[in-house]
Amino acid sequence: MVDLRVNIGIELQNPLILSSGILGSSVGMLKRLAGTGAGALITKSITENPRVGHENPTVIEVAPGIILNAMGLPNPGVDLFLNELEEEDELKIPIIPSVAGYNEDEFGRVAARFEDAGYEMVELNISCPHSTEFSTGKVIAQDTGRTSQVISAVREITSLKLIVKLSPNVTDIVEFAEVALDAGADALSLINTLEALEVDPFFEVPVLGNIFGGQSGESVRCIAQRKIADIALAMHSDRIRNVPLIGIGGVRTPEDVFRFILLGVDAVGIGSSILYEDLAIFENILDGLERMMVDKGYESLDVFRGKAILRIAEMMV
Ligand code: SIN
Repeated sequence: MVDLRVNIGIELQNPLILSSGILGSSVGMLKRLAGTGAGALITKSITENPRVGHENPTVIEVAPGIILNAMGLPNPGVDLFLNELEEEDELKIPIIPSVAGYNEDEFGRVAARFEDAGYEMVELNISCPHSTEFSTGKVIAQDTGRTSQVISAVREITSLKLIVKLSPNVTDIVEFAEVALDAGADALSLINTLEALEVDPFFEVPVLGNIFGGQSGESVRCIAQRKIADIALAMHSDRIRNVPLIGIGGVRTPEDVFRFILLGVDAVGIGSSILYEDLAIFENILDGLERMMVDKGYESLDVFRGKAILRIAEMMV
């Protein structure tokens, strides 16, 4: 038996987390996901008022491993979402609400509603690349000032543990991690999707209703790994404070989870790959991960977490 438990500020039975993004805005879906073997579920991002999201199409696989989405944060709004959740029996798995908003006040109000409802931890989604119509302007996670304002505002009015979801669409992700940690983040999740565009050569138009979207799927895994390594190396060299990391980006197999843990993450988000493997992906990955650990004689994730980062740090001297 291997010990798969992890602590990201709350204890999880295993490191696999449904990442916020494509699934998880309906309570019915969360209920289905709760029995799949995941260690925790991060909900679809919830705003103060209901949002219908962008025009269809909103999610398209444009080539194997290349998924584009521009959903536009569709959700029922915090009141309805909480009402529906309250009607459910306990889901028996940690639920981490993802919070989004137009500005720091909305982030603060929505986060406070979740705290009042008894939640311990939320993720602040400041990095959706298509949160505005036609992806105009910078998103919060591309602006250090606004990143700090949003996190500080939530920090000031709640005692929630805060995961901050970082954007890969910046020059120096470590700079943004530092700002997030200074403003009070307790954990970091990365990466959100990469700014992207696809054009249909036959109809000669963009394929997404919102024109621009965000890329996920296996095609982004190595990019995610580079960004995770940048953050983990900055922690290793004490440039930034050490906090739990949730690695997200194209993870589909037990080997991918192993890679992310070698790069220092505490937990691993699974999102787009559910489109390929269905909900069995959580159990399948856990079985494979356990087998790999038994083969290598590793009794817990702590034994190999960050090993590749130590090696990279040595090689870079
Ligand atoms: C969306 O709702 O558009 C996706 C969420 C995200 O990219 O953060």
